[in-house]
Amino acid sequence: MNTLIKVGLIGFGRMGRFYLQEMQKSGRWNIAYICDLNPASRKLAKELSPESKVIENEQEIFDDKTVQVVGLFALANSRKEQIEKAIQSGKHVISEKPIADTIEREWGAVKAAESSNLFSTVNLYLRNSWYHKLIKQFIDKGEIGELAIIRICHLTPGLAPGEGHEYEGPSFHDCGMHYVDITKWYAGCNFKTWNAQAVRMWNYKDPWWLQCHGTFENGVVFDITQGHVYGQLSKNQTHNSYIDIIGTEGIARMTHDFKTAVVELHGVTQTIREERPFGGKNIDVLCDLFADSVELNKRHPGLPQLRDSAIASEYAWKFLEDAKNKDLPAIGEIHTLEKIIERRKTMKNGYGLLQQL
Ligand SMILES: NC(=O)c1ccc[n+]([C@@H]2O[C@H](COP(=O)([O-])OP(=O)(O)OC[C@H]3O[C@@H](n4cnc5c(N)ncnc54)[C@H](O)[C@@H]3O)[C@@H](O)[C@H]2O)c1
Repeated sequence: MNTLIKVGLIGFGRMGRFYLQEMQKSGRWNIAYICDLNPASRKLAKELSPESKVIENEQEIFDDKTVQVVGLFALANSRKEQIEKAIQSGKHVISEKPIADTIEREWGAVKAAESSNLFSTVNLYLRNSWYHKLIKQFIDKGEIGELAIIRICHLTPGLAPGEGHEYEGPSFHDCGMHYVDITKWYAGCNFKTWNAQAVRMWNYKDPWWLQCHGTFENGVVFDITQGHVYGQLSKNQTHNSYIDIIGTEGIARMTHDFKTAVVELHGVTQTIREERPFGGKNIDVLCDLFADSVELNKRHPGLPQLRDSAIASEYAWKFLEDAKNKDLPAIGEIHTLEKIIERRKTMKNGYGLLQQL
């Protein structure tokens, strides 16, 4: 009996290829279709997954009644319609974030998903990470006393402006919405107040670094710092990524080098240091939870909801808007950005490089 879950993947760029790899590895999926508008991506799809039907027109996936799940890994401008079509044609949805290219359209996608009993999820990958789960459990046990301060920082020489992901917005939205989401996940309630400061690095039209601090409705305070501005032209690139959580009695923190994550927990009864593989985008975890849900016909509670993504996206936009209404300095010149983009085109091993075809 064939018990594989039949899936169609739409969008075969950097992320689409990660999903293919993890789904192939898990042995739980029949990757029936791969769709991409770009002929070079389709050529690669045929090579990497010869048993899949590789197509240009997504409609074939929605029209195939035997397809159970669609994976939406193209760009944000096509996602809302794809989510709606998937739900209308009775298919479960695994979506990349953001789930659309404007707030209104994201809430439209949420509405479509929530109006049906089909399962949908979105890759808010930090929620599936071992390190955030471990820290949250430690906090929930009362080890740090009352949760008071959440500080999170993610600075890398990653995707530069103008390189791609235009529908996903500036770096604080495209990447930063993950940190907005996980901060809210820890606080367990909604944002109440915020003050954002940003800078238009290299004189680009949009800020590529932003820091926001503020409060949650329960009084927990936060600061989030995110930017893809971190030593883009340094000879040997590096990054700085951490979370630092402070309670009334103890602290919990984590840092990683993209290979290994280190969690340090200083609680009232326990001091723990855990070092484990970083886990990348945790796509294996997401796909497994989703496969369990489809097989058991019961949505796994650990799966992020489309609503979570819409909320995180909305606040990331609000924080960007707040920064734009304050003093927004421009530092550097476009010429430097051009040098960065040139360098990234030929880099083989860099941060967040889109696939060159
Ligand atoms: N969850 C995360 O941590 C994370 C990380 C990176 C990217 N993403 C998201 O994943 C999405 C894809 O990002 P990427 O880095 O793979 O980008 P990419 O540019 O490498 O790939 C996008 C692919 O989609 C194809 N495409 C575009 N429109 C299409 C359409 N209508 N139908 C079919 N194919 C289409 C393009 O040809 C391209 O091959 C983005 O929305 C991005 O925000 C999420």
